[in-house]
Amino acid sequence: METENLLYEGKAKKLFKTNEPNVLRVEYLDQTTALNGAKKDIVTGKASLNNQITALVFERLTHEGIQNHFIKKKSKNEQLVEAVEIVQLEVVIRNVSAGSFAKRLAIAEGTPLAFPIIEFYYKDDALDDPLINEDHIKILQIATEDEIKTIKMQTYKINEALIKLFKKIGICLIDFKIEFGRRDDGTILLADEITPDTCRLWDEKTGDRLDKDLYRKNLGDIVPVYQEVLERLEKIAD
Ligand code: TMP
Repeated sequence: METENLLYEGKAKKLFKTNEPNVLRVEYLDQTTALNGAKKDIVTGKASLNNQITALVFERLTHEGIQNHFIKKKSKNEQLVEAVEIVQLEVVIRNVSAGSFAKRLAIAEGTPLAFPIIEFYYKDDALDDPLINEDHIKILQIATEDEIKTIKMQTYKINEALIKLFKKIGICLIDFKIEFGRRDDGTILLADEITPDTCRLWDEKTGDRLDKDLYRKNLGDIVPVYQEVLERLEKIAD
């Protein structure tokens, strides 16, 4: 039954059909990967933490008027989301130099950027998710010019809302990756997840990394820091 309903199995989540045509069930997994799956481990507790974190973040964005696919949390590891066609882009927005940007352009990690910059990566594991530009997106028919415009506007708005949200809990939002979905009527809306797996979160006071870079760079255990992010978010959600 479960196997029949399985629509998609990703690196960190499984997606199942439900009895409702426009509703999917997402099951978060403890499986943790980096380097496009080359590094892989089971990190017990991560699924539940990410499910709770993304639920709180999406609820907050809904409150701020930002449309997204989140419907409700179903259990510790599961949530219900609207069924949308995922636009095959990883949209990254950066406020501070870090990660691949710092490396590619030799701009020291931690250097604030004069304005937030958006990058697009083509979601294609076989190609290793290459960095692409707006012309590539149009040529590959990933999205239309109007859709790209909408995605960029939404991404700037989401960035502003998230900077504010994380600032409230003493966290500097360095950068993050989001994905968008397309409804049957063509509406573009925020989908996928927003968690410490997909964001760089640095403690404002100590500069401590509160995100998946700990795992990517073998710097420490991610469970206690994800727990810390969740607890801080829960305090302002009350
Ligand atoms: P990058 O600096 O490695 O390009 O990552 C930019 C942001 O995107 C960072 O917050 C981590 C996130 N990210 C993902 O969520 N998934 C990915 O596959 C990659 C490469 C980055």
